[in-house]
Amino acid sequence: MENTEAAVLPPQVSSVIFSEEQIQEAVKRIGAQISRDYAGQKILLVTVLKGAFVFMADLARAIEGHVEIDFMAVSSYGDGAKSSGVVRIIKDLNASVEGRHVIIVEDILDSGLTLTYLLKNLKSRNPLSIEVATLLFKEGKQQTNVNCKYIGLTCPDEFVVGYGLDHNESFRNLPFIGVLDPSVYE
Ligand code: PRP
Repeated sequence: MENTEAAVLPPQVSSVIFSEEQIQEAVKRIGAQISRDYAGQKILLVTVLKGAFVFMADLARAIEGHVEIDFMAVSSYGDGAKSSGVVRIIKDLNASVEGRHVIIVEDILDSGLTLTYLLKNLKSRNPLSIEVATLLFKEGKQQTNVNCKYIGLTCPDEFVVGYGLDHNESFRNLPFIGVLDPSVYE
Protein backbone atom coordinates (compact mmCIF):
# COMPACT_ATOMS: atom_id res chain seq x y z
CA MET A 1 0.00 0.00 0.00
CA GLU A 2 1.37 3.34 -0.95
CA ASN A 3 0.17 6.91 -1.01
CA THR A 4 0.64 8.87 -4.20
CA GLU A 5 1.85 12.30 -3.17
CA ALA A 6 -0.03 14.05 -5.94
CA ALA A 7 -3.27 12.09 -5.41
CA VAL A 8 -6.22 14.22 -4.42
CA LEU A 9 -8.53 12.08 -2.32
CA PRO A 10 -12.26 12.76 -2.29
CA PRO A 11 -13.49 12.99 1.35
CA GLN A 12 -15.24 9.60 1.05
CA VAL A 13 -11.99 7.84 0.12
CA SER A 14 -9.84 7.12 3.14
CA SER A 15 -6.61 5.99 1.48
CA VAL A 16 -4.88 5.08 -1.75
CA ILE A 17 -4.41 1.35 -1.97
CA PHE A 18 -2.85 1.18 -5.45
CA SER A 19 -1.19 4.24 -6.95
CA GLU A 20 -1.28 5.13 -10.64
CA GLU A 21 2.31 3.90 -10.91
CA GLN A 22 1.52 0.52 -9.32
CA ILE A 23 -1.48 0.06 -11.59
CA GLN A 24 0.48 0.94 -14.74
CA GLU A 25 3.26 -1.45 -13.75
CA ALA A 26 0.72 -4.28 -13.35
CA VAL A 27 -0.97 -3.40 -16.67
CA LYS A 28 2.37 -3.39 -18.51
CA ARG A 29 3.32 -6.74 -16.98
CA ILE A 30 0.06 -8.38 -18.08
CA GLY A 31 0.32 -6.72 -21.51
CA ALA A 32 3.82 -8.16 -21.98
CA GLN A 33 2.67 -11.64 -20.87
CA ILE A 34 -0.25 -11.60 -23.28
CA SER A 35 1.96 -10.30 -26.12
CA ARG A 36 4.32 -13.24 -25.56
CA ASP A 37 1.61 -15.87 -25.11
CA TYR A 38 -0.30 -14.85 -28.25
CA ALA A 39 2.62 -13.79 -30.48
CA GLY A 40 1.50 -13.79 -34.11
CA GLN A 41 -2.15 -14.46 -33.23
CA LYS A 42 -5.24 -12.31 -33.23
CA ILE A 43 -6.85 -11.66 -29.84
CA LEU A 44 -10.37 -10.55 -28.99
CA LEU A 45 -10.58 -8.65 -25.70
CA VAL A 46 -14.07 -9.05 -24.25
CA THR A 47 -14.57 -6.22 -21.79
CA VAL A 48 -17.14 -6.56 -19.04
CA LEU A 49 -18.85 -3.21 -18.52
CA LYS A 50 -18.80 -1.02 -16.79
CA GLY A 51 -15.93 -1.36 -14.34
CA ALA A 52 -13.36 -2.83 -16.73
CA PHE A 53 -13.46 -0.03 -19.29
CA VAL A 54 -10.43 1.85 -17.90
CA PHE A 55 -8.31 -1.29 -17.47
CA MET A 56 -9.20 -2.45 -20.97
CA ALA A 57 -8.17 0.87 -22.51
CA ASP A 58 -4.73 0.69 -20.89
CA LEU A 59 -4.30 -3.08 -21.35
CA ALA A 60 -5.13 -2.94 -25.07
CA ARG A 61 -2.37 -0.37 -25.54
CA ALA A 62 0.09 -2.51 -23.55
CA ILE A 63 -0.36 -5.47 -25.91
CA GLU A 64 1.76 -5.73 -29.05
CA GLY A 65 0.04 -7.35 -31.98
CA HIS A 66 -3.43 -7.69 -33.43
CA VAL A 67 -6.09 -6.86 -30.86
CA GLU A 68 -9.81 -6.46 -31.34
CA ILE A 69 -12.24 -5.27 -28.71
CA ASP A 70 -15.84 -6.03 -27.89
CA PHE A 71 -18.05 -5.26 -24.92
CA MET A 72 -20.57 -7.07 -22.76
CA ALA A 73 -22.69 -5.66 -19.99
CA VAL A 74 -24.05 -7.94 -17.31
CA SER A 75 -26.05 -7.44 -14.20
CA SER A 76 -26.31 -9.81 -11.28
CA TYR A 77 -29.61 -10.22 -9.53
CA GLY A 78 -29.16 -9.57 -5.83
CA ASP A 79 -28.94 -6.80 -3.30
CA GLY A 80 -26.52 -4.82 -5.40
CA ALA A 81 -23.68 -5.13 -2.91
CA LYS A 82 -22.89 -8.77 -3.58
CA SER A 83 -22.97 -11.00 -6.63
CA SER A 84 -25.76 -13.54 -6.50
CA GLY A 85 -24.41 -15.73 -9.26
CA VAL A 86 -27.55 -15.22 -11.32
CA VAL A 87 -26.32 -13.08 -14.14
CA ARG A 88 -28.35 -11.37 -16.83
CA ILE A 89 -26.83 -10.15 -20.08
CA ILE A 90 -27.78 -6.49 -20.59
CA LYS A 91 -25.64 -6.03 -23.68
CA ASP A 92 -24.23 -8.90 -25.67
CA LEU A 93 -21.16 -8.96 -27.90
CA ASN A 94 -21.49 -7.42 -31.34
CA ALA A 95 -19.64 -10.23 -33.10
CA SER A 96 -19.26 -13.99 -32.85
CA VAL A 97 -16.42 -15.47 -30.77
CA GLU A 98 -16.42 -18.76 -32.67
CA GLY A 99 -12.91 -19.82 -33.65
CA ARG A 100 -11.29 -16.83 -31.94
CA HIS A 101 -8.76 -16.39 -29.14
CA VAL A 102 -10.79 -14.64 -26.44
CA ILE A 103 -9.55 -12.92 -23.29
CA ILE A 104 -12.22 -11.73 -20.87
CA VAL A 105 -11.10 -8.46 -19.26
CA GLU A 106 -12.41 -7.74 -15.77
CA ASP A 107 -11.62 -5.06 -13.23
CA ILE A 108 -12.12 -7.25 -10.17
CA LEU A 109 -12.55 -10.91 -9.33
CA ASP A 110 -14.43 -11.06 -6.05
CA SER A 111 -16.79 -14.01 -5.47
CA GLY A 112 -15.99 -15.19 -9.01
CA LEU A 113 -19.66 -15.79 -9.76
CA THR A 114 -19.82 -13.27 -12.61
CA LEU A 115 -16.81 -14.79 -14.35
CA THR A 116 -18.01 -18.35 -13.79
CA TYR A 117 -21.20 -17.44 -15.62
CA LEU A 118 -19.39 -15.57 -18.40
CA LEU A 119 -16.87 -18.35 -18.98
CA LYS A 120 -19.63 -20.93 -19.26
CA ASN A 121 -21.66 -18.71 -21.55
CA LEU A 122 -18.78 -17.79 -23.87
CA LYS A 123 -17.32 -21.32 -23.96
CA SER A 124 -20.64 -22.54 -25.31
CA ARG A 125 -20.07 -20.27 -28.33
CA ASN A 126 -16.98 -22.31 -29.38
CA PRO A 127 -14.04 -19.93 -29.13
CA LEU A 128 -10.63 -21.32 -30.15
CA SER A 129 -9.38 -20.46 -26.66
CA ILE A 130 -10.60 -18.45 -23.69
CA GLU A 131 -8.69 -16.91 -20.77
CA VAL A 132 -9.35 -14.28 -18.13
CA ALA A 133 -7.39 -11.13 -17.27
CA THR A 134 -8.36 -9.31 -14.09
CA LEU A 135 -6.72 -6.22 -12.68
CA LEU A 136 -7.70 -6.97 -9.08
CA PHE A 137 -7.98 -10.33 -7.38
CA LYS A 138 -9.62 -10.38 -3.96
CA GLU A 139 -7.76 -13.08 -2.13
CA GLY A 140 -9.78 -15.70 -0.31
CA LYS A 141 -13.17 -14.38 -1.46
CA GLN A 142 -13.86 -16.79 -4.31
CA GLN A 143 -16.92 -18.98 -3.99
CA THR A 144 -16.06 -20.82 -7.15
CA ASN A 145 -12.84 -21.91 -8.78
CA VAL A 146 -12.22 -19.51 -11.67
CA ASN A 147 -9.23 -20.23 -13.85
CA CYS A 148 -7.75 -16.74 -14.17
CA LYS A 149 -4.48 -16.70 -16.11
CA TYR A 150 -3.61 -13.00 -15.86
CA ILE A 151 -3.83 -11.26 -12.47
CA GLY A 152 -2.69 -7.67 -11.94
CA LEU A 153 -2.80 -7.00 -8.22
CA THR A 154 -3.96 -8.92 -5.17
CA CYS A 155 -6.46 -6.85 -3.27
CA PRO A 156 -7.40 -6.98 0.42
CA ASP A 157 -11.07 -7.37 1.32
CA GLU A 158 -11.97 -3.66 1.28
CA PHE A 159 -14.55 -1.68 -0.68
CA VAL A 160 -12.29 -0.33 -3.41
CA VAL A 161 -13.10 2.42 -5.89
CA GLY A 162 -11.35 4.22 -8.73
CA TYR A 163 -9.77 3.26 -12.05
CA GLY A 164 -13.19 2.11 -13.29
CA LEU A 165 -14.55 0.77 -10.00
CA ASP A 166 -17.52 2.60 -8.50
CA HIS A 167 -19.78 3.16 -5.54
CA ASN A 168 -23.24 4.11 -6.82
CA GLU A 169 -21.62 5.06 -10.16
CA SER A 170 -19.20 7.56 -8.55
CA PHE A 171 -15.39 7.44 -8.38
CA ARG A 172 -14.84 5.52 -11.64
CA ASN A 173 -12.69 8.42 -12.88
CA LEU A 174 -10.12 8.37 -10.07
CA PRO A 175 -6.73 7.57 -11.62
CA PHE A 176 -5.74 5.46 -8.58
CA ILE A 177 -7.56 2.78 -6.56
CA GLY A 178 -8.64 3.82 -3.09
CA VAL A 179 -10.52 2.44 -0.12
CA LEU A 180 -14.01 3.81 0.40
CA ASP A 181 -14.65 4.98 3.92
CA PRO A 182 -17.06 2.48 5.56
CA SER A 183 -19.25 5.38 6.79
CA VAL A 184 -20.34 5.84 3.15
CA TYR A 185 -22.01 2.44 2.87
CA GLU A 186 -22.60 1.20 6.44
C1 PRP B 1 -18.18 -5.95 -10.55
C2 PRP B 1 -16.97 -6.31 -11.41
C3 PRP B 1 -17.26 -7.72 -11.81
C4 PRP B 1 -18.05 -8.28 -10.66
C5 PRP B 1 -17.13 -9.09 -9.82
O1 PRP B 1 -19.20 -5.49 -11.37
O2 PRP B 1 -16.84 -5.46 -12.51
O3 PRP B 1 -18.02 -7.78 -13.01
O4 PRP B 1 -18.55 -7.17 -9.90
O5 PRP B 1 -17.81 -9.63 -8.72
P1 PRP B 1 -17.94 -11.20 -8.48
O6 PRP B 1 -16.57 -11.81 -8.68
O7 PRP B 1 -18.36 -11.24 -7.01
O8 PRP B 1 -18.97 -11.76 -9.39
P2 PRP B 1 -20.45 -4.66 -10.84
O9 PRP B 1 -21.61 -5.59 -10.65
O10 PRP B 1 -20.04 -3.83 -9.65
O11 PRP B 1 -20.82 -3.72 -12.08
P3 PRP B 1 -19.98 -2.55 -12.79
O12 PRP B 1 -18.75 -3.20 -13.39
O13 PRP B 1 -20.90 -2.01 -13.82
O14 PRP B 1 -19.60 -1.53 -11.74
